[in-house]
Amino acid sequence: MNRIIINVAGASSRISRHIYGHFSEHLGRCIYGGYWVGPDSPIPNVRGIRKDVVDALKKIKIPNLRWPGGCFADEYHWKDGIGPRPGRPKMINTHWGGVIEDNGFGTHEFLDLCEQLSELGSPRCEPYICGNVGSGTVQELSQWVEYCNFDGISPMAELRRKNGRENPWKVRFWGIGNENWGCGGNMTPEFYADNYRRYAVYTRKYEDTTPFKIACGPNSDNYRWTKVMMEKTCSERGNNPDGLALHYYTVPGEWGHKGSAVHFNEAEWYATMHKANFMDELITRHCAIMDEYDPKKKVSLIVDEWGTWYDVEPGTNPGFLYQQNTIRDALVAGIHLNIFNNHSERVSMANIAQTINVLQSVIFTDGDKMMLTPTYHVFDMYKVHQDALKLPVHVESKTNHTGPSTVPAITASASEDDNRKVHISLTNIELNNELPVQLDIRGIPLKYNGGTIITSENMNDHNTFEQGSKVRIGEFKGAVTSHGGRYTLNLPPKSVVTLELE
Ligand code: AHR
Repeated sequence: MNRIIINVAGASSRISRHIYGHFSEHLGRCIYGGYWVGPDSPIPNVRGIRKDVVDALKKIKIPNLRWPGGCFADEYHWKDGIGPRPGRPKMINTHWGGVIEDNGFGTHEFLDLCEQLSELGSPRCEPYICGNVGSGTVQELSQWVEYCNFDGISPMAELRRKNGRENPWKVRFWGIGNENWGCGGNMTPEFYADNYRRYAVYTRKYEDTTPFKIACGPNSDNYRWTKVMMEKTCSERGNNPDGLALHYYTVPGEWGHKGSAVHFNEAEWYATMHKANFMDELITRHCAIMDEYDPKKKVSLIVDEWGTWYDVEPGTNPGFLYQQNTIRDALVAGIHLNIFNNHSERVSMANIAQTINVLQSVIFTDGDKMMLTPTYHVFDMYKVHQDALKLPVHVESKTNHTGPSTVPAITASASEDDNRKVHISLTNIELNNELPVQLDIRGIPLKYNGGTIITSENMNDHNTFEQGSKVRIGEFKGAVTSHGGRYTLNLPPKSVVTLELE
């Protein structure tokens, strides 16, 4: 019997809603065609931004959006994207497909999007702007912050007003470069740490908007990067970043042959699950290094790029990174979100790559059509954990030996919301086995209220514009029986489940 022990009286910290964040780059059809159709489009829009997409993202309570890249960020000069649209310069998007970027979507459009994504009466969808350290200047980043955040008299605040925006947007999250170990300048950690310190000085606080500065962190298991960054920024007071950004993608094969998003076999299914679980080891080991230099956990680990990365769909532009999304992706999402919830003392933000039409998307668009992917539904099921109290979870699971190493067949995380409702999210990676689970709930007696599930008959099942939404959220109809504080249930194969107790 698999056993999960949850201590309802043991809550000590909150799961930041920002763990449920998104990342959208000027890449393929993410911005253009994804969000932006322009004000003259017949596709329903508000000031050029698609209504259907905004409504869908509001439903999952999108808490923040990282933009404009990615690798694009370190080639982006923000002043190209302000002022009257017809006059904006055109450039080649050298990283992503060599297409023409006409700068039609710039700072004002992005911040308008974040405002449209914010629900009245709820915390806003916070913009997270990634600055250009690789090919930009300190002045450029400093002026961008001034343009967005300063309310007084200054050249950048005047320029913003001239471009039609009176009030500052109060952007809190600022990335000081992206992947500066690679596409963002090919730097050593020592060189980048010095650059970080320099750029960070001029990323100024204006009025009550204190910037939350996010430094480029390690690529996957580059523990040396984390060590050098922590040593060079945390050893003297005042130089530490607020966040260190880890990037890790779940690639089932090798980078040269990553594997198909849809046409995969059982071995590839399990290889994917094993790679997804690696996120737990990565976070644990990077956090151990961070603990040495920052025992009070002032610096957050920000996983601002994560998700599956497969070969592009046949016949599509290889630079557009367009891939399908199956029930396998739903499992990968559930596993990651459980890992982030469980590490939320240090992990205060994460951003799935990327929201629309790129990599592990939550939304696909095709002209005026829009479709939700299996990954979207997992975000919908897990939104109950946003800003809820994290409950300690102990998982005793059957181990799965099918992949390159052993991993637990079940992962879990749990939280208690402000209405004292407890939510437990579970994943079962096994393709053919329903797994019996005993939930041992300690602390307070609770009653089962129902649950949601995403699963599908075949491991390759996915949603298409032609055949509709095959893989979607449903009611969990399995029996959940109680025996004095203990519940038993059967977790269906290849499923993600969220249960509610009160
Ligand atoms: O998400 C696609 C790319 O992956 C990003 O631009 C880059 O930061 C990472 O390598």
